[in-house]
Amino acid sequence: MKIFHNNTELSHCLDGLKTKGKSIGLVPTMGALHDGHLSLVDKGLSENDYVVVSIFVNPTQFNNKEDLIKYPRTLDADVSLLKTISDSTILVYAPTVKDIYDDNVQSQSFAFDGLENEMEGAFREGHFDGVGTIVKRLFEIVRPQRAYFGQKDFQQLQIIRKLVELYHIPVKVIGCPIHRAVDGLAMSSRNTRLTPEHRKAAPFIYKTLKSAKIKFGTKSAKKVTEWVEKQFKKQPLLELEYFTIADTKTLKPVKRKSTKKTYRAFIAVYAGDIRLIDNIALN
Ligand code: PAF
Repeated sequence: MKIFHNNTELSHCLDGLKTKGKSIGLVPTMGALHDGHLSLVDKGLSENDYVVVSIFVNPTQFNNKEDLIKYPRTLDADVSLLKTISDSTILVYAPTVKDIYDDNVQSQSFAFDGLENEMEGAFREGHFDGVGTIVKRLFEIVRPQRAYFGQKDFQQLQIIRKLVELYHIPVKVIGCPIHRAVDGLAMSSRNTRLTPEHRKAAPFIYKTLKSAKIKFGTKSAKKVTEWVEKQFKKQPLLELEYFTIADTKTLKPVKRKSTKKTYRAFIAVYAGDIRLIDNIALN
């Protein structure tokens, strides 16, 4: 399997493949790969000749220093996992910070029509500037035809769609379903850092989202939100940061339900010092 740490060498290899008419998909990741990532790679390989998997813990999208330091870095294990899918049609791009940022480890500042101010944007200052910066850079380096992102980070997905629209980037952004453990917990690289007790408690998040979806059929967003907040107060191991029912397009919280719009419920929860997010389509 080819592993690149340098964007010039990667671009050179990709130029060769593109000249031969090969299509390229991109799966951007921060590593610590799990089945959710592998499903994105599988989908990428079903639609492209080659898939570039980028593995880069992007410092500018972390608003919490401790989280950045503790974020799992498991490149050897990630490469072994990818080899189980394909040795010859996956290219790994694992750049250094200098390769991406040179000596200026800073985010560009973006306005994504307000999408960046809701939920994750409100609780993680500068997060989406960091995401926008790295994803734009990866698009420039790889110039893929298609790029794959999981819907667990639904707000991120909508923001990347907006990034592509605003900067006229010729890439098709493909959102892929959330991959869950058998007990319903959304797969995340952060799950490996949960204590056994918190891991046992965490499926409550998705269980509550599913109940919220049923309740939203007959109740207002306000009533459902109050109900969810009450459920989490009874959970000593989980601390609710936010639960929001929002318009799928604008990501603005719902004031009054309309049958013409689609909605999603979004949640962020602390299990000890690990922050977990999830979401569910409501209609
Ligand atoms: O979703 C992630 O893992 C990251 O935010 C991404 C898209 C790889 C950018 O660093």
